[in-house]
Amino acid sequence: MAALDNCYNVNDLRAAAKRRLPRGVFEFVDRATEDHLALAANRSVFQDIKLRHRALLDVSGRTTKTTLFGKEMAIPMAIAPTGAAGLCWYRGELALAKAAAAANIPLTLSTASMTAMETIADQAGGRLWFQLYVWKRRDLSYQIIERAKKAGYEALIVTVDSAVAPNREYNNRNGFALPFNPSARFLFDVALHPAWTLGVMGRYLTTIGMPKHENYPAEFQGTITSGSAGRSDAMRLDSLNWDDIKIFRDMWPGILMLKGVNRVDDAHRAIAAGVDGLIVSNHGGRNMDSAAATLSVLPTLAAEVGDKTTLILDSGIRRGSDILKALALGAKAVLTGRATLYGTAVGGEAGASKAIGFIKTELDKTMAYTGCRTPAEISTDVFFGDAANGWDAEA
Ligand SMILES: Cc1cc2nc3c(=O)[nH]c(=O)nc-3n(C[C@H](O)[C@H](O)[C@H](O)COP(=O)(O)O)c2cc1C
Repeated sequence: MAALDNCYNVNDLRAAAKRRLPRGVFEFVDRATEDHLALAANRSVFQDIKLRHRALLDVSGRTTKTTLFGKEMAIPMAIAPTGAAGLCWYRGELALAKAAAAANIPLTLSTASMTAMETIADQAGGRLWFQLYVWKRRDLSYQIIERAKKAGYEALIVTVDSAVAPNREYNNRNGFALPFNPSARFLFDVALHPAWTLGVMGRYLTTIGMPKHENYPAEFQGTITSGSAGRSDAMRLDSLNWDDIKIFRDMWPGILMLKGVNRVDDAHRAIAAGVDGLIVSNHGGRNMDSAAATLSVLPTLAAEVGDKTTLILDSGIRRGSDILKALALGAKAVLTGRATLYGTAVGGEAGASKAIGFIKTELDKTMAYTGCRTPAEISTDVFFGDAANGWDAEA
């Protein structure tokens, strides 16, 4: 695939995705909210950390493999839940899941994804986690949890940073909305991107029909062009609270994680509620624009609860060196959202595999340079200077 052959890193995949996707779809994936402050902060904190080489240590036997929740995985990385892979590529979630399974890393399927969780389990396999957006009618959430349990998902991840719908003003400008809104602007945008129009929408229409949110409760499973397909306020839930988490804990026998816990007091409450892992996340900067960068809040969380729970970080991972920095500051693993979506948008499974491969190679090289032979050997000892304390807003 020519577009993929010319990509050498995640930034190249992003540029190729920008050419291929209609502007509305690309911006939905790529951009964030309001003035994009959180999006920028997520990246700049990673970029500001400088590392030191270690000389003359034999690192020839190094490995990026690690163990998370008792199981080995090839890199300390899993795929974040995103509702958009199926818009980026025909059956994009299946493509991404197959790439994750082949790479031996977990995949998180979003409530808002377009491929049924059972199909992913049957056709991709691998290590699967399910992300839950809680519905206003709680019984609908319980049905989804039962489905995930029956389909054999290893972990349930409840997203807790989305009390209200974000201000994505650019979507108003570019005409993109879910359900798709056939505005002249969006139709023109689609017409300018025939590879996507034929390769994604065309393939859906000539095979399974307009995609649906197959993981929504049955009565909300409209197609992406029909009324019930939007991320309605049934999912942006300002009444979600700790009592819900207790109920989910009772219902879910597997690993339970909360996604979007960035405060120590919340972390303590989550641990007391029996939660197994916390994802330090600001939703990739997509929700609250003044959110602190996740790498800035990680050190305090790691110091306070790092030995009581499993901390995973997302928001801003674009390079393998970012994983090393997150692990040094206390994460056990990271999630990638956009990085692997860009790859999926350019080449489906092959593109997602490329994105994972770039990040893995970069992590391996950074480990070799810094003298870390295993992920467990990564610490702030590899950092240059003492800026680590300065990033910690709560210190
Ligand atoms: C297009 C897109 C859709 C997303 N959809 C969801 C979702 O359905 N549920 C969720 O918990 N997070 C969702 N997220 C957030 C990601 O799970 C993750 O937190 C974020 O992408 C991490 O930042 P990164 O993109 O910089 O890696 C989405 C992110 C993107 C980019």
